[in-house]
Amino acid sequence: MANNHTYRYYTQSLNTDGLWSELMSDAPVDWDSLTFSMTETDHMYIAKTAIDEPWGPGLMRPYGNISISPAAGVINYGQGLFEGMKAYRTAKNRVVLFRPEENARRMQRGADRLKMPPVPEPIFIDAVEQVVQANARWIPPMGRGALYVRPLLNGSGAVLGVAPAPEYTFMVFSTPVGPYFKGGMTCIDLLISDTYHRAAPGGSGGVKAIGNYAPGMMPSKSAKADGYSEVIYLDAEEHTYIEEVGAANFFCYRDGILYTPELTGTILPGITRDSIIELARQMGIEVVEGKVAAEFAMEADEAFCCGTAAVISPIGSITLGEITATYGNEPGELTQTLYDKLTNIQNEIDEDSFGWVHAVPGL
Ligand code: PLP
Ligand code: COI
Repeated sequence: MANNHTYRYYTQSLNTDGLWSELMSDAPVDWDSLTFSMTETDHMYIAKTAIDEPWGPGLMRPYGNISISPAAGVINYGQGLFEGMKAYRTAKNRVVLFRPEENARRMQRGADRLKMPPVPEPIFIDAVEQVVQANARWIPPMGRGALYVRPLLNGSGAVLGVAPAPEYTFMVFSTPVGPYFKGGMTCIDLLISDTYHRAAPGGSGGVKAIGNYAPGMMPSKSAKADGYSEVIYLDAEEHTYIEEVGAANFFCYRDGILYTPELTGTILPGITRDSIIELARQMGIEVVEGKVAAEFAMEADEAFCCGTAAVISPIGSITLGEITATYGNEPGELTQTLYDKLTNIQNEIDEDSFGWVHAVPGL
Protein backbone atom coordinates (compact mmCIF):
# COMPACT_ATOMS: atom_id res chain seq x y z
CA MET A 1 0.00 0.00 0.00
CA ALA A 2 2.81 2.43 0.81
CA ASN A 3 3.88 3.62 -2.61
CA ASN A 4 4.88 6.81 -4.28
CA HIS A 5 1.45 7.65 -5.58
CA THR A 6 -0.45 7.55 -2.30
CA TYR A 7 2.46 9.28 -0.59
CA ARG A 8 2.35 12.04 -3.19
CA TYR A 9 -1.31 12.64 -2.57
CA TYR A 10 -1.30 12.52 1.19
CA THR A 11 1.63 14.81 1.64
CA GLN A 12 -0.43 17.25 -0.39
CA SER A 13 -3.77 16.98 1.31
CA LEU A 14 -4.19 14.85 4.44
CA ASN A 15 -2.24 14.24 7.57
CA THR A 16 -0.60 10.84 7.76
CA ASP A 17 -2.68 9.58 10.70
CA GLY A 18 -5.84 10.29 8.70
CA LEU A 19 -4.38 8.35 5.77
CA TRP A 20 -3.56 5.19 7.62
CA SER A 21 -6.64 4.96 9.78
CA GLU A 22 -8.82 5.46 6.70
CA LEU A 23 -6.94 3.12 4.36
CA MET A 24 -6.66 0.36 6.93
CA SER A 25 -10.36 0.39 7.81
CA ASP A 26 -12.88 -1.85 6.05
CA ALA A 27 -15.16 -0.21 3.51
CA PRO A 28 -18.76 -0.12 4.74
CA VAL A 29 -20.06 -2.34 1.94
CA ASP A 30 -22.01 -5.59 1.95
CA TRP A 31 -20.12 -7.18 -0.96
CA ASP A 32 -22.90 -9.70 -1.60
CA SER A 33 -25.52 -6.99 -2.15
CA LEU A 34 -23.55 -4.97 -4.68
CA THR A 35 -25.41 -3.74 -7.74
CA PHE A 36 -24.27 -1.49 -10.57
CA SER A 37 -24.87 1.72 -8.63
CA MET A 38 -22.91 4.60 -7.16
CA THR A 39 -21.20 4.29 -3.78
CA GLU A 40 -18.96 7.22 -2.95
CA THR A 41 -15.36 6.19 -2.33
CA ASP A 42 -12.54 8.12 -0.68
CA HIS A 43 -10.51 9.81 -3.41
CA MET A 44 -10.60 11.08 -6.96
CA TYR A 45 -8.13 12.45 -9.48
CA ILE A 46 -8.34 15.77 -11.27
CA ALA A 47 -6.18 17.45 -13.91
CA LYS A 48 -6.83 20.58 -15.95
CA THR A 49 -5.32 22.13 -19.02
CA ALA A 50 -5.97 25.08 -21.28
CA ILE A 51 -6.77 24.45 -24.93
CA ASP A 52 -3.51 24.06 -26.89
CA GLU A 53 -1.51 23.47 -23.66
CA PRO A 54 0.00 20.05 -22.97
CA TRP A 55 -1.48 17.93 -20.17
CA GLY A 56 0.56 17.63 -17.00
CA PRO A 57 -0.05 15.17 -14.16
CA GLY A 58 -3.06 15.98 -11.99
CA LEU A 59 -3.67 15.66 -8.27
CA MET A 60 -5.54 13.32 -6.01
CA ARG A 61 -8.14 14.91 -3.74
CA PRO A 62 -10.95 13.70 -1.50
CA TYR A 63 -13.97 12.48 -3.47
CA GLY A 64 -16.57 15.23 -3.64
CA ASN A 65 -18.43 17.78 -5.69
CA ILE A 66 -16.63 19.93 -8.21
CA SER A 67 -17.43 23.50 -9.11
CA ILE A 68 -17.95 24.42 -12.75
CA SER A 69 -18.87 27.51 -14.77
CA PRO A 70 -22.53 27.65 -15.86
CA ALA A 71 -21.12 28.48 -19.30
CA ALA A 72 -18.87 25.39 -19.44
CA GLY A 73 -18.73 23.73 -22.86
CA VAL A 74 -19.68 20.37 -21.37
CA ILE A 75 -22.92 21.48 -19.74
CA ASN A 76 -24.00 23.70 -22.62
CA TYR A 77 -22.92 21.73 -25.67
CA GLY A 78 -22.08 18.24 -24.39
CA GLN A 79 -18.34 18.45 -25.03
CA GLY A 80 -17.55 15.44 -22.87
CA LEU A 81 -16.41 11.83 -22.91
CA PHE A 82 -16.38 9.05 -20.36
CA GLU A 83 -14.69 5.70 -20.02
CA GLY A 84 -15.50 2.66 -17.93
CA MET A 85 -13.08 0.06 -16.65
CA LYS A 86 -12.82 -2.35 -13.72
CA ALA A 87 -10.15 -3.23 -11.14
CA TYR A 88 -10.36 -6.82 -9.90
CA ARG A 89 -8.83 -8.67 -6.96
CA THR A 90 -7.41 -11.84 -8.40
CA ALA A 91 -6.44 -15.39 -7.56
CA LYS A 92 -2.79 -14.27 -7.54
CA ASN A 93 -3.66 -11.87 -4.71
CA ARG A 94 -3.08 -8.86 -6.93
CA VAL A 95 -5.29 -6.08 -8.20
CA VAL A 96 -5.50 -5.86 -11.98
CA LEU A 97 -7.08 -3.71 -14.66
CA PHE A 98 -8.19 -5.20 -17.96
CA ARG A 99 -6.56 -3.69 -21.08
CA PRO A 100 -6.52 -0.11 -19.69
CA GLU A 101 -4.38 1.09 -22.63
CA GLU A 102 -7.38 0.43 -24.88
CA ASN A 103 -9.55 2.73 -22.77
CA ALA A 104 -6.84 5.39 -22.95
CA ARG A 105 -6.70 5.10 -26.75
CA ARG A 106 -10.47 5.12 -27.14
CA MET A 107 -10.64 8.30 -25.07
CA GLN A 108 -7.97 9.83 -27.31
CA ARG A 109 -10.01 9.00 -30.43
CA GLY A 110 -13.07 10.50 -28.77
CA ALA A 111 -11.12 13.62 -27.85
CA ASP A 112 -10.15 14.09 -31.51
CA ARG A 113 -13.78 13.71 -32.57
CA LEU A 114 -15.06 16.22 -29.97
CA LYS A 115 -12.15 18.63 -30.53
CA MET A 116 -10.65 18.24 -27.07
CA PRO A 117 -6.94 17.86 -26.21
CA PRO A 118 -6.30 14.08 -25.91
CA VAL A 119 -4.95 12.91 -22.55
CA PRO A 120 -1.58 11.16 -23.11
CA GLU A 121 -1.74 7.43 -22.37
CA PRO A 122 0.84 7.54 -19.51
CA ILE A 123 -1.13 10.26 -17.72
CA PHE A 124 -4.38 8.33 -18.20
CA ILE A 125 -2.89 5.08 -16.86
CA ASP A 126 -1.17 6.82 -13.95
CA ALA A 127 -4.44 8.55 -12.98
CA VAL A 128 -6.39 5.29 -13.06
CA GLU A 129 -3.74 3.48 -11.03
CA GLN A 130 -3.67 6.25 -8.42
CA VAL A 131 -7.44 6.13 -8.05
CA VAL A 132 -7.41 2.35 -7.63
CA GLN A 133 -4.55 2.55 -5.11
CA ALA A 134 -6.16 5.31 -3.07
CA ASN A 135 -9.53 3.51 -3.00
CA ALA A 136 -8.14 0.01 -2.48
CA ARG A 137 -10.37 -0.72 0.49
CA TRP A 138 -13.38 -0.42 -1.84
CA ILE A 139 -12.23 -3.18 -4.21
CA PRO A 140 -14.53 -6.18 -3.60
CA PRO A 141 -13.08 -9.61 -2.83
CA MET A 142 -12.44 -11.79 -5.87
CA GLY A 143 -15.61 -13.00 -7.57
CA ARG A 144 -17.91 -10.64 -5.65
CA GLY A 145 -17.66 -7.57 -7.85
CA ALA A 146 -15.09 -5.02 -8.98
CA LEU A 147 -14.04 -1.44 -8.47
CA TYR A 148 -15.55 0.38 -11.44
CA VAL A 149 -13.28 3.20 -12.56
CA ARG A 150 -14.80 6.11 -14.44
CA PRO A 151 -12.43 8.49 -16.30
CA LEU A 152 -14.05 11.68 -17.61
CA LEU A 153 -12.76 14.28 -20.04
CA ASN A 154 -14.71 17.45 -20.64
CA GLY A 155 -14.70 21.03 -21.80
CA SER A 156 -14.89 22.78 -18.44
CA GLY A 157 -14.06 26.30 -19.63
CA ALA A 158 -16.73 28.93 -20.31
CA VAL A 159 -17.77 29.37 -23.93
CA LEU A 160 -20.87 31.00 -25.36
CA GLY A 161 -20.72 30.31 -29.09
CA VAL A 162 -20.77 26.69 -30.25
CA ALA A 163 -17.00 26.14 -30.21
CA PRO A 164 -14.40 24.16 -28.26
CA ALA A 165 -14.09 25.28 -24.63
CA PRO A 166 -10.93 27.18 -23.60
CA GLU A 167 -10.19 24.81 -20.65
CA TYR A 168 -10.42 21.02 -20.17
CA THR A 169 -10.74 18.80 -17.11
CA PHE A 170 -9.74 15.16 -16.85
CA MET A 171 -11.14 13.40 -13.79
CA VAL A 172 -11.23 9.85 -12.53
CA PHE A 173 -13.50 8.50 -9.81
CA SER A 174 -14.41 4.98 -8.75
CA THR A 175 -17.14 2.95 -7.08
CA PRO A 176 -17.53 -0.69 -6.11
CA VAL A 177 -20.03 -2.49 -8.36
CA GLY A 178 -21.83 -5.77 -8.82
CA PRO A 179 -23.69 -7.01 -11.92
CA TYR A 180 -25.03 -4.50 -14.48
CA PHE A 181 -28.10 -6.58 -15.27
CA LYS A 182 -30.01 -8.01 -12.31
CA GLY A 183 -28.93 -11.58 -11.57
CA GLY A 184 -25.58 -11.52 -13.41
CA MET A 185 -25.45 -14.59 -15.69
CA THR A 186 -29.25 -14.90 -15.88
CA CYS A 187 -30.81 -14.49 -19.30
CA ILE A 188 -32.18 -11.08 -20.21
CA ASP A 189 -35.13 -10.18 -22.43
CA LEU A 190 -34.47 -7.41 -24.94
CA LEU A 191 -36.73 -5.27 -27.10
CA ILE A 192 -35.70 -4.07 -30.55
CA SER A 193 -36.65 -0.42 -30.97
CA ASP A 194 -38.44 0.24 -34.23
CA THR A 195 -38.71 3.96 -33.41
CA TYR A 196 -35.46 5.21 -31.91
CA HIS A 197 -31.83 5.08 -32.99
CA ARG A 198 -28.66 5.46 -30.97
CA ALA A 199 -26.36 6.81 -33.65
CA ALA A 200 -26.28 7.90 -37.28
CA PRO A 201 -23.48 7.68 -39.87
CA GLY A 202 -21.05 10.56 -39.43
CA GLY A 203 -22.20 11.21 -35.87
CA SER A 204 -20.53 10.35 -32.56
CA GLY A 205 -21.75 6.76 -32.01
CA GLY A 206 -18.25 5.35 -32.45
CA VAL A 207 -16.84 7.24 -29.46
CA LYS A 208 -17.91 7.36 -25.83
CA ALA A 209 -19.43 10.85 -26.07
CA ILE A 210 -21.66 11.64 -23.09
CA GLY A 211 -24.33 12.94 -25.48
CA ASN A 212 -24.85 9.45 -26.92
CA TYR A 213 -26.49 8.21 -23.75
CA ALA A 214 -29.30 10.58 -22.69
CA PRO A 215 -31.37 9.97 -25.86
CA GLY A 216 -31.48 6.28 -24.93
CA MET A 217 -32.97 6.90 -21.50
CA MET A 218 -36.57 7.35 -22.59
CA PRO A 219 -36.71 4.24 -24.83
CA SER A 220 -34.85 2.23 -22.18
CA LYS A 221 -37.18 3.32 -19.35
CA SER A 222 -40.20 2.51 -21.44
CA ALA A 223 -38.82 -0.93 -22.41
CA LYS A 224 -38.10 -1.63 -18.73
CA ALA A 225 -41.63 -0.63 -17.80
CA ASP A 226 -42.79 -3.30 -20.25
CA GLY A 227 -40.61 -5.96 -18.58
CA TYR A 228 -37.53 -5.89 -20.83
CA SER A 229 -33.98 -5.39 -19.53
CA GLU A 230 -32.84 -3.08 -22.35
CA VAL A 231 -33.33 -1.92 -25.91
CA ILE A 232 -31.52 -3.20 -28.99
CA TYR A 233 -30.92 -0.47 -31.56
CA LEU A 234 -31.02 -0.98 -35.31
CA ASP A 235 -29.05 0.95 -37.91
CA ALA A 236 -30.47 4.40 -38.65
CA GLU A 237 -30.42 4.05 -42.46
CA GLU A 238 -32.18 0.77 -43.22
CA HIS A 239 -33.71 -0.02 -39.80
CA THR A 240 -32.70 -3.62 -40.42
CA TYR A 241 -29.32 -4.41 -38.90
CA ILE A 242 -28.54 -4.74 -35.20
CA GLU A 243 -26.13 -2.12 -33.90
CA GLU A 244 -25.90 -2.58 -30.16
CA VAL A 245 -27.70 -3.00 -26.86
CA GLY A 246 -27.96 0.28 -24.91
CA ALA A 247 -24.46 0.24 -23.46
CA ALA A 248 -23.16 -3.14 -24.61
CA ASN A 249 -22.15 -4.85 -27.87
CA PHE A 250 -24.15 -7.65 -29.46
CA PHE A 251 -23.16 -11.19 -30.54
CA CYS A 252 -25.14 -14.15 -31.84
CA TYR A 253 -24.04 -17.70 -32.58
CA ARG A 254 -25.64 -19.56 -35.44
CA ASP A 255 -24.68 -22.88 -37.05
CA GLY A 256 -21.19 -22.80 -35.52
CA ILE A 257 -20.33 -19.22 -36.55
CA LEU A 258 -20.18 -16.27 -34.17
CA TYR A 259 -21.56 -13.02 -35.62
CA THR A 260 -21.20 -9.46 -34.36
CA PRO A 261 -22.07 -6.13 -36.01
CA GLU A 262 -19.12 -4.60 -37.84
CA LEU A 263 -17.63 -1.33 -36.64
CA THR A 264 -18.97 1.18 -39.11
CA GLY A 265 -18.56 4.29 -36.95
CA THR A 266 -22.02 4.12 -35.39
CA ILE A 267 -21.14 1.32 -32.95
CA LEU A 268 -18.88 1.70 -29.94
CA PRO A 269 -15.72 -0.41 -30.43
CA GLY A 270 -16.04 -2.31 -27.16
CA ILE A 271 -12.91 -3.66 -25.53
CA THR A 272 -14.90 -6.66 -24.30
CA ARG A 273 -16.18 -7.17 -27.86
CA ASP A 274 -12.63 -7.19 -29.20
CA SER A 275 -11.52 -9.61 -26.45
CA ILE A 276 -14.39 -12.00 -27.19
CA ILE A 277 -13.53 -12.03 -30.90
CA GLU A 278 -9.93 -12.93 -30.02
CA LEU A 279 -10.98 -15.59 -27.50
CA ALA A 280 -13.41 -17.21 -29.93
CA ARG A 281 -10.84 -17.23 -32.74
CA GLN A 282 -8.29 -18.77 -30.37
CA MET A 283 -10.86 -21.54 -29.75
CA GLY A 284 -11.02 -22.12 -33.52
CA ILE A 285 -14.47 -20.60 -33.91
CA GLU A 286 -15.16 -18.59 -37.04
CA VAL A 287 -16.12 -15.00 -36.19
CA VAL A 288 -17.87 -12.80 -38.73
CA GLU A 289 -17.92 -9.03 -38.21
CA GLY A 290 -20.57 -7.86 -40.62
CA LYS A 291 -24.13 -6.73 -41.01
CA VAL A 292 -26.33 -8.71 -38.62
CA ALA A 293 -29.98 -8.41 -39.63
CA ALA A 294 -32.40 -8.55 -36.70
CA GLU A 295 -34.32 -11.34 -38.45
CA PHE A 296 -31.10 -13.35 -38.86
CA ALA A 297 -30.16 -12.89 -35.18
CA MET A 298 -33.63 -13.95 -34.11
CA GLU A 299 -33.02 -17.35 -35.73
CA ALA A 300 -29.68 -17.84 -33.96
CA ASP A 301 -28.86 -20.61 -31.48
CA GLU A 302 -27.41 -18.25 -28.84
CA ALA A 303 -27.17 -14.52 -28.31
CA PHE A 304 -25.43 -12.35 -25.73
CA CYS A 305 -24.34 -8.81 -25.12
CA CYS A 306 -21.07 -7.67 -23.60
CA GLY A 307 -19.24 -4.74 -22.10
CA THR A 308 -17.17 -3.74 -19.11
CA ALA A 309 -20.28 -3.21 -16.99
CA ALA A 310 -22.33 -6.01 -18.57
CA VAL A 311 -19.38 -8.50 -18.81
CA ILE A 312 -21.17 -11.19 -20.89
CA SER A 313 -24.93 -11.23 -20.41
CA PRO A 314 -26.83 -14.07 -22.06
CA ILE A 315 -29.93 -13.04 -23.97
CA GLY A 316 -33.04 -15.12 -23.27
CA SER A 317 -35.30 -13.49 -25.83
CA ILE A 318 -35.51 -10.71 -28.39
CA THR A 319 -38.80 -9.05 -29.31
CA LEU A 320 -39.41 -7.16 -32.55
CA GLY A 321 -42.95 -5.90 -32.92
CA GLU A 322 -45.29 -8.85 -32.45
CA ILE A 323 -42.56 -11.49 -32.78
CA THR A 324 -40.48 -12.83 -29.90
CA ALA A 325 -37.51 -15.11 -30.53
CA THR A 326 -36.58 -17.24 -27.52
CA TYR A 327 -33.10 -18.63 -26.97
CA GLY A 328 -33.85 -20.32 -23.64
CA ASN A 329 -33.59 -19.67 -19.93
CA GLU A 330 -30.02 -20.84 -19.53
CA PRO A 331 -26.87 -19.32 -21.05
CA GLY A 332 -25.91 -21.10 -24.28
CA GLU A 333 -22.87 -23.36 -24.23
CA LEU A 334 -20.60 -20.99 -26.17
CA THR A 335 -21.84 -17.98 -24.17
CA GLN A 336 -20.95 -19.76 -20.93
CA THR A 337 -17.55 -20.89 -22.27
CA LEU A 338 -16.63 -17.38 -23.39
CA TYR A 339 -17.81 -15.96 -20.05
CA ASP A 340 -15.63 -18.45 -18.17
CA LYS A 341 -12.60 -17.80 -20.38
CA LEU A 342 -12.91 -14.03 -20.10
CA THR A 343 -13.53 -13.89 -16.34
CA ASN A 344 -10.85 -16.51 -15.62
CA ILE A 345 -8.32 -14.27 -17.35
CA GLN A 346 -9.61 -11.20 -15.52
CA ASN A 347 -9.44 -13.06 -12.19
CA GLU A 348 -6.00 -14.51 -13.03
CA ILE A 349 -7.32 -18.07 -12.69
CA ASP A 350 -6.25 -18.90 -16.25
CA GLU A 351 -3.03 -17.89 -17.92
CA ASP A 352 -3.28 -14.56 -19.76
CA SER A 353 -1.71 -15.53 -23.08
CA PHE A 354 -2.85 -12.23 -24.64
CA GLY A 355 -1.11 -9.95 -22.13
CA TRP A 356 -4.43 -8.28 -21.24
CA VAL A 357 -4.18 -7.91 -17.48
CA HIS A 358 -2.35 -4.94 -16.06
CA ALA A 359 -1.31 -5.25 -12.43
CA VAL A 360 -1.81 -2.13 -10.34
CA PRO A 361 1.54 -1.43 -8.65
CA GLY A 362 1.69 -1.60 -4.88
CA LEU A 363 -1.53 -3.59 -4.37
N1 PLP B 1 -21.42 -0.02 -26.37
C1 PLP B 1 -21.66 1.09 -25.67
C2 PLP B 1 -22.59 2.10 -26.22
C3 PLP B 1 -21.04 1.29 -24.43
O1 PLP B 1 -21.27 2.40 -23.72
C4 PLP B 1 -20.16 0.30 -23.94
C5 PLP B 1 -19.48 0.47 -22.67
O2 PLP B 1 -18.41 0.95 -22.56
C6 PLP B 1 -19.92 -0.84 -24.73
C7 PLP B 1 -20.57 -0.97 -25.93
C8 PLP B 1 -18.94 -1.90 -24.30
O3 PLP B 1 -17.63 -1.42 -24.37
P1 PLP B 1 -16.49 -2.01 -23.45
O4 PLP B 1 -16.48 -3.46 -23.67
O5 PLP B 1 -15.25 -1.33 -23.88
O6 PLP B 1 -16.87 -1.67 -22.04
C1 COI C 1 -19.28 0.26 -19.43
O1 COI C 1 -19.56 -0.90 -19.73
O2 COI C 1 -18.26 0.55 -18.81
C2 COI C 1 -20.14 1.35 -19.78
O3 COI C 1 -19.65 2.43 -19.95
C3 COI C 1 -21.56 1.14 -19.77
C4 COI C 1 -22.20 2.19 -18.96
C5 COI C 1 -22.84 3.25 -19.74
C6 COI C 1 -22.83 1.79 -17.73
